[in-house]
Amino acid sequence: MAHKRKDRELDAHFAPVSSASDSERTETARSLGTMDLEAMLGDPERKQSFVTPMFDVIAPRYDAFTRLFSFGMDARWKGVLLREAQGRLAAGAGRAARVLDLACGTGDLAFGLARGARSQHPGLHVRGVDASLEMARLARARLGASDRDVADLVSIETGDMSALPTADQSIDMITAGYAVRNAPSPELAIHEAARVLRSGGVYVTLDFYRPQWAPWRVLLLGYLAAAGNLVGWTWHRSPVVYGYIARSIDHFMSWQEFSRVLDRNGFDVQSVTRWLGGGVAMHVAVRR
Ligand SMILES: C[S@@+](CC[C@H](N)C(=O)[O-])C[C@H]1O[C@@H](n2cnc3c(N)ncnc32)[C@H](O)[C@@H]1O
Repeated sequence: MAHKRKDRELDAHFAPVSSASDSERTETARSLGTMDLEAMLGDPERKQSFVTPMFDVIAPRYDAFTRLFSFGMDARWKGVLLREAQGRLAAGAGRAARVLDLACGTGDLAFGLARGARSQHPGLHVRGVDASLEMARLARARLGASDRDVADLVSIETGDMSALPTADQSIDMITAGYAVRNAPSPELAIHEAARVLRSGGVYVTLDFYRPQWAPWRVLLLGYLAAAGNLVGWTWHRSPVVYGYIARSIDHFMSWQEFSRVLDRNGFDVQSVTRWLGGGVAMHVAVRR
């Protein structure tokens, strides 16, 4: 019964619709503000029905917000991830490479990787997958404009990182920027990544984590909550649409626990690069 309800909710969120107007976005933001976020985050059956419309609302300003909110650090972290991913792909230079970018958003990582790796991989193909129609629409718009140079190497689709329409062991590399924390069940999302990656395939993921040291956790989440609520109110009259970030981190796990989840789902964690006292980390893991 619960599964049926979840399927209906997901179908509704993945169904094709045209781009929302500003007033529709404001209306959605208001209705998100009336939901009990703590209850939604704590319930895997309901979490996606908050997360997807929220990303639809913030999509047009997501990139600007992320740069601002992180004082430019987001671009630096993504640069580190891209260099790592390109270095790993270079080991198989000359061969076709099939890459999945999970929760691709407006396409930063998918486009960056395609641009950086195309000279070494004539058959490179990067598939960006995102649950939000608005995010996917913006990513496709970039492919027709500012990122046209990689349009023949990247495809963007709407879908769920926890249930990919992808054959077992058919992918060489997965990248995932701020992705798994948003999944209704992070463990299920990791399990799905393990299913589609071939043995020896690489998983490179960057996300916010719950710092273990309580004083730092209170400070970091306090900043993220205050800044997020302020921006949510200013841009959408709904604090929760950006306030979500701090709350979702508090419901998530530490980078150490994430390493353990990777390990028990068939990955060898090869490195963990940490920033902000463990509040942000990049894991590089290889499928056994
Ligand atoms: C914080 S954004 C990250 C976007 C991009 N990866 C980046 O680094 O800029 C998180 C993305 O996860 C997507 N998302 C949330 N739940 C998802 C799911 N179950 N499957 C796929 N994408 C999902 C959202 O729509 C959103 O675009």
